[in-house]
Amino acid sequence: MTAKVIDGKAFAANVRAEVAAHVARLKAEKGITPGLAVVLVGEDPASKVYVGAKDRTCQELGLHSKKITLPAETTQDELIAVVQQLNADASIHGILVQSPPPKHIDEEAVIRAIDPRKDVDGFHPENVAKLVLEDPSGFVPCTPAGCMRLLAAAGVETNGAEAVVIGRSMIVGKPMAMLLVAKNSNATVTIAHSRSKDLPAICRRADIVVAAVGRPDMVKADWIKPGAVVIDVGINRVDDATKKSGYRLTGDVDYADVAGKCSAITPVPGGVGPMTIAMLMKNTLQAARQLTE
Ligand code: GUN
Repeated sequence: MTAKVIDGKAFAANVRAEVAAHVARLKAEKGITPGLAVVLVGEDPASKVYVGAKDRTCQELGLHSKKITLPAETTQDELIAVVQQLNADASIHGILVQSPPPKHIDEEAVIRAIDPRKDVDGFHPENVAKLVLEDPSGFVPCTPAGCMRLLAAAGVETNGAEAVVIGRSMIVGKPMAMLLVAKNSNATVTIAHSRSKDLPAICRRADIVVAAVGRPDMVKADWIKPGAVVIDVGINRVDDATKKSGYRLTGDVDYADVAGKCSAITPVPGGVGPMTIAMLMKNTLQAARQLTE
């Protein structure tokens, strides 16, 4: 079997075009420009790349973008003070503090400081509750929202499907499981993780596998039921001397192995990644609308 490659780049371009059209209309009709503030603390190279991409995408779609870079020594109180200023800034509708922050900062405390109405990451407890309650006024975390959109765009049937989510993070695993089990999706969901007994056997039950563990090439062909759909959330840097950068990106799924067994798969890069940023733009538009209604 040759798997269909789920082209996240192309599907994300559709979402960005939709958002750009709505942004133009909001500007023309109400004079409102959705604004996103992205805060980066420290020098993590991957985070720098993501923050740069978010900033660029805002500009491309006509959103106002404010990029705030703070030194690694920034204290938690200083960071929370920056968040509070952004909470009070009427030109900013969405606030994102890039994860992970340096170790001396309690990320949970920073997230709780963000006005939930501006929490476009969907990490604040109020938005986590709204996700569980299936309340559409909440913000859905961008990566799992992007995965759901990819499944829909690729025509994958979730109703009654067995889905296995590998990973239980607050950023991806848990919200992904909530979205899959929600009444507009109706999958039967298992959340597996590093302590799960016999992960390959759990995975083999799945019609839909979502891998979000951060372990390069972990999921192998013999974990996959023939014809399953595989969504690879991992973006891992592995050393590669043949590359100018010295590394290459690979997912949590051993793509070359698994592609022969599944019916559809997302590539890394070019799968979930572009969709995540597109959904962030969509969330920022939603925030601007809800705050100015
Ligand atoms: N780091 C990796 N993914 C994310 C994300 O979706 N939001 C934030 N704030 N940081 C991240």
